[in-house]
Amino acid sequence: MTTRRAAIIGTGHRAQMYTQALAARAHYDVALLSDPSPTRAAHHNALLASLGARPAATCAPEDFAAALRTHSIDEVLVTTVDATHHTYITAALKAGCRVVTEKPMTTDAAKCTTILDTLDRTGGELSVTFNYRYNPAHEKVWQLLRDGAIGAIRSVHFEWLLDVRHGADYFRRWHREKRHSGGLLVHKSGHHFDLVNWWLGAAPTRVHAEGGLVFYGRDNGERTGLRRDYVRAHGSAEAAADPFAIDLTADPDLDSLYVAAEAAGDSAYVRDRNVFGDAIDIEDDLSVLVRYDTGATMTYHLTAYSPWEGYRVMFNGTGGRLELEVEENTWQPPRPTAGAGGSHGGVVMAHPGRTSILLRPLWEEPREIGYEKTAGSHGGGDLRMLKELFGPLGDGSDEGAAPAAGKGATARDGALALAVGVAGNASLVSGAPVETAALW
Ligand SMILES: NC(=O)c1ccc[n+]([C@@H]2O[C@H](COP(=O)([O-])OP(=O)(O)OC[C@H]3O[C@@H](n4cnc5c(N)ncnc54)[C@H](O)[C@@H]3O)[C@@H](O)[C@H]2O)c1
Repeated sequence: MTTRRAAIIGTGHRAQMYTQALAARAHYDVALLSDPSPTRAAHHNALLASLGARPAATCAPEDFAAALRTHSIDEVLVTTVDATHHTYITAALKAGCRVVTEKPMTTDAAKCTTILDTLDRTGGELSVTFNYRYNPAHEKVWQLLRDGAIGAIRSVHFEWLLDVRHGADYFRRWHREKRHSGGLLVHKSGHHFDLVNWWLGAAPTRVHAEGGLVFYGRDNGERTGLRRDYVRAHGSAEAAADPFAIDLTADPDLDSLYVAAEAAGDSAYVRDRNVFGDAIDIEDDLSVLVRYDTGATMTYHLTAYSPWEGYRVMFNGTGGRLELEVEENTWQPPRPTAGAGGSHGGVVMAHPGRTSILLRPLWEEPREIGYEKTAGSHGGGDLRMLKELFGPLGDGSDEGAAPAAGKGATARDGALALAVGVAGNASLVSGAPVETAALW
């Protein structure tokens, strides 16, 4: 197998998973790293060295397009701040590279159109890493629905809970501003909206959303008495006793990626802001109503300040009902458990509960549906996705991790997941239902 030369742009926390995955594959060479922060790029080069891989060349993001040619890059991984994905996706497609982008594909309809147009013009290849598709429980649900276990699906009721540690993290970082993340309907719910599109084999046609910032933010924190008076946690005595604060120095990766970059003066990115602070313009409580082209509807609710984390999805069909319940984390202690759950991304949460798939056919007793569980982050989904995207590890350690073929999400899937979030954001502004066809 010839060696594929890869570039990673956006060498933050999530990118570590890709740096490790590519370094572990003999048929990949991480040849280029790019980030506004040289400290964060150096963190990834140190990671490569620790895995016995050669160091990669580095460049500033503004030089990225030219560097793709200079370094003969075949594949590009985009793991930057969401609102910047389109810049690097289009540059890489124009340079003839295969592109893998983190979700969401982008954050608004205009950027999405630019990506789809560039794909059309270049005939290139773009994959969106919807890792939730690779969770074996989600795959089992997909199989059951596809095999007609509950007949034709008429409606879905979906509740997603983010807890007061992981959910709170979106209110400390760049995600707290819509111009960077698109808000949680785009940034986070894109996972869920993609799952429903995929489970139903359907495209969303109309979206109505209601929601607001009802828990985090200065005003809410002052009203509830949960706010403590500090701007960012690092160096603050007030924050030391705040269960909503994150201690970046307690996690060697967070310390090296963010605190060290600030100290070196090459990044002004403050990753530990007060969740009850100012300048938060995303919602933390969202209700969404969606109609699909199959005639099915979905009611969806996201809460980002819950005591536990997980989700419940119920499908109502002409032959019965299917219920999925996943407790990713049953509770959060006021101090994070060491090594698990201080932030999120590539870690399994600290107090996982049960996952259950319950089939309730009409006129029959309900029955639990078994499925083959896999270990690892995002219900084992990350490992299986990496195998499909980049091939097997070669040492056999990801044996059994292969998903059934066809989980890979394309740019079209990325756009259809985005459609619900973007239309939802428009509906939040207008107060009226929004037709997705009117978006692009
Ligand atoms: N699929 C998942 O489960 C999952 C989990 C975590 C993160 N993600 C995604 O991964 C991406 C990165 O998230 P993260 O948590 O690692 O964030 P992060 O803040 O740790 O990393 C983002 C990086 O982008 C860099 N950056 C900022 N502006 C840039 C620009 N204009 N050009 C190039 N780079 C720029 C930052 O310096 C930073 O290093 C996001 O798109 C996020 O949605 C996905």
